[in-house]
Amino acid sequence: MEILKDIQFDSFPSRLVLATLEETSAAQGDLFVADDNTAGFLSPEQREKAVILPAGESEKTFASIERILARAVELKLDRSSLFVGLGGGVICDMTAFAASLYMRGTRVELMPTTLLAMVDAAVGGKTGVDYGSYKNMIGTFYPARQVWICPDYVKSLPDREYLCGLAEVIKTAILGDEALLIMLEEKREALLARDPILVREMIVHCVRFKAKVVEEDLRESGVRASLNLGHTFGHALESITGFSGVSHGEGVAWGMSKAVLAARLRGDISEAAYRRQITLLTDFGYPLDYPFSVDELIEAMGHDKKIQGGQKRFVLPAEGGKRFQILPLDETFLRKVLE
Ligand SMILES: NC(=O)c1ccc[n+]([C@@H]2O[C@H](COP(=O)([O-])OP(=O)(O)OC[C@H]3O[C@@H](n4cnc5c(N)ncnc54)[C@H](O)[C@@H]3O)[C@@H](O)[C@H]2O)c1
Repeated sequence: MEILKDIQFDSFPSRLVLATLEETSAAQGDLFVADDNTAGFLSPEQREKAVILPAGESEKTFASIERILARAVELKLDRSSLFVGLGGGVICDMTAFAASLYMRGTRVELMPTTLLAMVDAAVGGKTGVDYGSYKNMIGTFYPARQVWICPDYVKSLPDREYLCGLAEVIKTAILGDEALLIMLEEKREALLARDPILVREMIVHCVRFKAKVVEEDLRESGVRASLNLGHTFGHALESITGFSGVSHGEGVAWGMSKAVLAARLRGDISEAAYRRQITLLTDFGYPLDYPFSVDELIEAMGHDKKIQGGQKRFVLPAEGGKRFQILPLDETFLRKVLE
């Protein structure tokens, strides 16, 4: 097993390891949490100690947390027990949230099975559930003691889910990994075909990048906010399309195109950098042109959780010494970006 990083988050050690399918199915734990689509990856022994939830974002609720906790009580687990989440971001976020609550905190390990969860959700200690129409409104910071990253799981992902994860990979590249950016440009076909060696390499780039950011700023009081590149625009688009028409990855990709345009209009990045980033998004097949009402979109941005002191703050790419900046944009300028 290759250790990618051994990080100290507050007092919680979080070990990030690259693992094989054999290693994950031999892993020990006291309670396994999976969903309908990932339960098949559990070994018979793990399945005996499992709670299997229906798949999907709509299940990211307190009711699911209660089911996990009820199963823990049924299995007579205590504070030294180990919860293991095996699934995408929904299962990882909920398993860690439940672990942070059970007996005021028990141990948790995560086995992300989507590309998005490997490169993003499982790394960094944010846990939670949705509340009504508010995403991740309730949760805790509770880093897993170990994250098992097994790139083989991406093989069975539906294309749309894989592309969702790739949008976060592109975000990482734009935020400051030039080698990854070049890899995405030069190896696009092979990455889309999920070449195992390249997929592994791409995941390692992202995990290292995110771990470094989180190590610096676990609670998002500074640099971690940069990971929201494209998300303020993207969430607004997702929300006005009722979280159904546009996937999260498509929203983020479109949002990044708007952030890149905003940076270009402000003169923060060159025409060449602008073209390069837009070309990358287009080449990966993300639609960048949606019919929407600008008024509705601006209104939806007003509801974004990332507003500080009543001001919308946006992450925009930059050039030179720093790769991004976080700043408010006024409505007149926003309209220029969106129209
Ligand atoms: N904690 C964080 O820092 C953080 C960061 C980003 C996103 N998130 C959260 O992650 C969630 C999105 O994660 P996601 O995109 O992984 O969604 P998801 O967990 O809903 O998984 C997407 C779908 O893929 C299925 N699936 C999972 N692994 C599979 C596999 N190997 N093969 C086939 N199907 C598989 C799932 O059952 C589900 O239907 C959101 O709730 C978001 O808020 C959290």
